[in-house]
Amino acid sequence: MGIGAVLAASNALHRISWDKSTVSARDQLVMFLENETRQTFGYKYKASGTVQTAALNRVTEWAETNYPSEFLKNEKSQGLKTRGFAERLASVDWGQGDAERGAILYKNLQCARCHDAGNRLGPRLEGLGKRFSRDDLFRAIIYPNEQVPERYRAVAIETVDGQYIQGAVVYESVDGITLQQTDGKTRRINRDQIEFQTRSNKSLMPEGLLDQATPLDLADLYQFLSR
Ligand code: HEC
Repeated sequence: MGIGAVLAASNALHRISWDKSTVSARDQLVMFLENETRQTFGYKYKASGTVQTAALNRVTEWAETNYPSEFLKNEKSQGLKTRGFAERLASVDWGQGDAERGAILYKNLQCARCHDAGNRLGPRLEGLGKRFSRDDLFRAIIYPNEQVPERYRAVAIETVDGQYIQGAVVYESVDGITLQQTDGKTRRINRDQIEFQTRSNKSLMPEGLLDQATPLDLADLYQFLSR
């Protein structure tokens, strides 16, 4: 049994989105994990929707108990990205959330800059509570690159003099392209300066925005965003 493969499958399982489109991929990962480890993790097959936190935690516990040093190495390299997600959400006392504190966090974490300003880089966030379950809402924030609609993908350009510029296309014409960068500044690049241009599969929304957030912060932010 390869612990490396088990950890990789477990990482993938933590990262994958929990909607209909990924049910079979998740099922296969769990099947693989259960076969390799000869354990059952209480995972429900063919179920989309809610993140199966308890099953994920059992995978994590198994690896931690049986392969502590490999597990630790993996945790260090994966950080919040693996067990962080499910466990952090499970540790939140959601009833303590306060929308006004959430609004302040929303400003301080720079969310407003991309989601509220006049020439926004991201979508409007009104009515999020109706569109997303709580897990999916935080998933969208913690893993912005998971499901990125075409028009929110970054365009990446390398110029003939070796600069690398990323942003959203604001305007494009035969002789040039204007990008809005994540710092809010726009920048025009002449066509003859472009060495290479590609549409990235990444979101313009950065990762790691909630890395420092406390459980109470998450509850506050949730109150604010789900209004
Ligand atoms: C640099 C710009 C930027 C910042 C800063 C930013 N976002 Fe985003 N956000 C985006 C873009 C672009 C998208 C759409 C693409 C995607 O889903 O990743 C998005 C998508 C989202 C979505 C999914 C919305 C949907 O309808 O699918 C949520 C929720 C969200 N952001 C919340 C936040 C919160 C909360 C913060 C602050 C902690 C934040 N964002 C900070 C640019 C940003």
